[in-house]
Amino acid sequence: MSQRIALVTGGTGGIGEAVCQRFVKDGYKVIAGYHNKEKARTWQIAQKEAGFDIEIVHCPVTDFEACGRAIKWVEDNVGPIDILVNNAGITKDGMFKKMPIERWNEVIETDLNSVFNMTRQIFEGMIERGFGRIINVSSVNGQMGQVGQVNYSAAKAGMHGFTKALARETARKGVTVNTISPGYVATPMVMAIAEEVRKKIENGIPMGRLCTPEEIAHGVSFLASELAAYTTGSDLSMNGGLFMH
Ligand code: CAA
Repeated sequence: MSQRIALVTGGTGGIGEAVCQRFVKDGYKVIAGYHNKEKARTWQIAQKEAGFDIEIVHCPVTDFEACGRAIKWVEDNVGPIDILVNNAGITKDGMFKKMPIERWNEVIETDLNSVFNMTRQIFEGMIERGFGRIINVSSVNGQMGQVGQVNYSAAKAGMHGFTKALARETARKGVTVNTISPGYVATPMVMAIAEEVRKKIENGIPMGRLCTPEEIAHGVSFLASELAAYTTGSDLSMNGGLFMH
């Protein structure tokens, strides 16, 4: 079998970085989608020094045409994409009564429409080749809702519907579609929550600690693997017991 090719959006930080590193260890050719060129180049050099050979591509996930260009660059310069991790995402937290429409749109565009923008332009190739893994990084807050996150929870919950519907369409074609729902992971996104609020959240996690990005990468690695061939339309919860259902 030739070396699998994996594209991770938002790959240059947080959970995305851990997924990229894990995929390198798994033996894949890895491409990290980025938004900020300077940051990405510096990141790529640091990764190389740490032993992780990772390609980078400009992939602003809110722009359908730009996503198409990024995908074409990967296909022309690296090869067809076997594994897509829709990981890029943002938060714009705030109580709903004070939420301007811009904050709603920005989060829906970045966290949900991005999944359409990328997947729509990749999955047909996967079907033609008879193999594909689409992994959508959602959130525990898409499952249980969170105060101050109506926009984010809606986008992340939307991913589940997307996953389940597309999984049905691709089930007989060798392409699996799954969601992973991390809890609170020690990334800059979570560390940006006011300390007092974060401590309260942490105390409410049955395991009493934040998750590590590597623990989430482990779950993504499974979903991307040959071993997960019979797993589709599923949602892998990794939240330290914060939400059980
Ligand atoms: N349940 C119910 N009501 C709550 C509440 C809770 N847990 N927490 C706060 N409230 C209420 C308060 O009592 C207050 O009510 P009144 O207006 O009636 O007095 C109101 O909500 C406003 O509370 P705050 O003073 O906290 O409001 P704020 O504007 O200062 O802060 C906030 C709002 C920014 C959303 C802040 O509460 C916050 O940061 N919350 C955490 C949100 C969160 O978990 N974000 C996760 C980011 S990381 C991520 O998303 C990754 C992932 O996937 C997990």
